[in-house]
Amino acid sequence: MPRSIAIDGPAGAGKSTIAKKVSQKLGFIYLDTGAMYRTVALKAIKTGIDTKNHQELANMMDKLDISISHENNLQKIFLDGEDVSEAIRAPQVSVGASNVAVFPEVRLKMVDLQRKIASGIDVVMDGRDIGSYVLPAAELKIFLTASVDERARRRYEELVQKGQPANLEAVRDDIIFRDKNDSSRALAPLVKAADAIEIDSTILTIDEVVEKILYFYKNYA
Ligand code: C5P
Repeated sequence: MPRSIAIDGPAGAGKSTIAKKVSQKLGFIYLDTGAMYRTVALKAIKTGIDTKNHQELANMMDKLDISISHENNLQKIFLDGEDVSEAIRAPQVSVGASNVAVFPEVRLKMVDLQRKIASGIDVVMDGRDIGSYVLPAAELKIFLTASVDERARRRYEELVQKGQPANLEAVRDDIIFRDKNDSSRALAPLVKAADAIEIDSTILTIDEVVEKILYFYKNYA
């Protein structure tokens, strides 16, 4: 039975950076599930479908071709055969992802893919519902949080470093919108699993959080 670690939490808590490092230390693959919802949103945007239009999105899901590759622990995601790993990071795709993620037709298909991957290989998976819904039997579940201001600051810095246009207030508003949307949906909302360990990373460095998770994995999983 492959091993799995679930890392969930609100937007901008540092899940992907941390999950990537933990997976490297343990020799697991890292699966970024947010990238999948982002790819669904990108497809909708490209085809002119409103990311809130339930019926059109449900129809679109039948024709969706998403695939994922892992090489040297680097995840690449493909939409209809095209590498969209960078394109899905645009801010309008973030909001679109949160919109499409409320629909069961979208979630169930993505969850299916996530479970299939985890059934074949050791994985550190990050998202919103991994510990509570996707992998309820994960060996270790982490719920990673940080204050809204700190999360906004980190996302803003990340955009600035990439040379992308950034506005701190807009980034903060996007995070608040997505947290609310993700926490209030009916199917598999953002929630701390009952058996998850919560880590508040507001005043911790990335390496301190990684060390904590490795410690928990060694001692409690
Ligand atoms: O993690 P990331 O910010 O890339 O995720 C983008 C969006 O995808 C989130 O705001 C959330 O709405 C959705 N998502 C989800 N379930 C997951 C991962 C992401 O609903 N497991």
